[in-house]
Amino acid sequence: MENNVRPESMARITTPELAKAFIEEQVAQVRAQVGDKKVLLALSGGVDSSVVAALLIKAIGKQLVCVHVNHGLMRKDESESVVKMFRDGLNANLIYVDATDRFLDLLAGVSDPERKRKIIGKEFIEVFADEARKLEDITFLAQGTIYPDILESIKAAEGKKAVKSHHNVGGLPEDLKFELVEPIKLLFKDEVRVVGEALGLPHAMVYRQPFPGPGLGVRCLGAITRDRLHALREADAILREEFDICGLNEKVWQYFVVVPDIKSVGVRDESRYEGWPAIIRAVNTKDAMTATVEEIPYPVLHKIVDRITHEVEGINRVLVDLTPKPVGTIEWE
Ligand code: XMP
Repeated sequence: MENNVRPESMARITTPELAKAFIEEQVAQVRAQVGDKKVLLALSGGVDSSVVAALLIKAIGKQLVCVHVNHGLMRKDESESVVKMFRDGLNANLIYVDATDRFLDLLAGVSDPERKRKIIGKEFIEVFADEARKLEDITFLAQGTIYPDILESIKAAEGKKAVKSHHNVGGLPEDLKFELVEPIKLLFKDEVRVVGEALGLPHAMVYRQPFPGPGLGVRCLGAITRDRLHALREADAILREEFDICGLNEKVWQYFVVVPDIKSVGVRDESRYEGWPAIIRAVNTKDAMTATVEEIPYPVLHKIVDRITHEVEGINRVLVDLTPKPVGTIEWE
């Protein structure tokens, strides 16, 4: 897998037929590369790692060992649905690690956004490495590297170095050395989606909105507490449910809830009730460099406000962020 340059002759994968041909080609290539050896994959449930998992299950079945790390910052029911889809649906060899306590204990009292990101990234690698060490006979590491990752690495190296492999499980410790398997590394995102559907992954999964690696950690502002994280997860689930019901899920690129660590006074059952605000962000963008705010019809907003303030413990107000990018970034952090 030396070649990191997409040949000009490579047709853009836009149809199920082209996707099927690509899949057959990659299945043969992976089998030739891997033989009867085992391959490890960090399966986050994101589009890229899910497509790689489905492709490798087709190519080598149980020789693929998937590890899903739940860092406790996933959206509601997300880890459960990854396990259900891959273990039950695709008969994957899947190890599920609930590392919630490890992450939340380390994050306790940490409010600086960059430190939070670093802690989550580093701990993710450690949890994954701990699992990898428990396994025997693993020769390969599969990664959901896609072509924009490679282009970014080229840009980052500014022509000074050879093209680096982009590490989704970047920087594994020295004692863990694997050969890489990167079957979708020459594909753009839209092609990955076409391939994913041709592999039989559900449409909603393949077209799922982007979700940052540090998960809800960037949306639970300031020092994360379990109660506020729980409130954020529940409010976010309500927003997504209501967007599904009114069809905005098909029109809006990314939509989510942010909960800052401030409280204000409200009233519930005729008594004073201090709670956090839930902030709704719904944006459209082509490349995430700029973004516009999507209009949410008032009746939909009223329903969301009503549900969040009545159903979610700890939330007593709902606000809507109308700031485009720039000036605001998409995430709050
Ligand atoms: P910002 O907040 O910079 O976000 O406007 C741009 C897009 O990137 C997503 N994002 C991430 N995606 N890992 C990811 O894979 C990350 O660490 C990360 N942080 C931000 C964000 O959700 C938005 O779509």
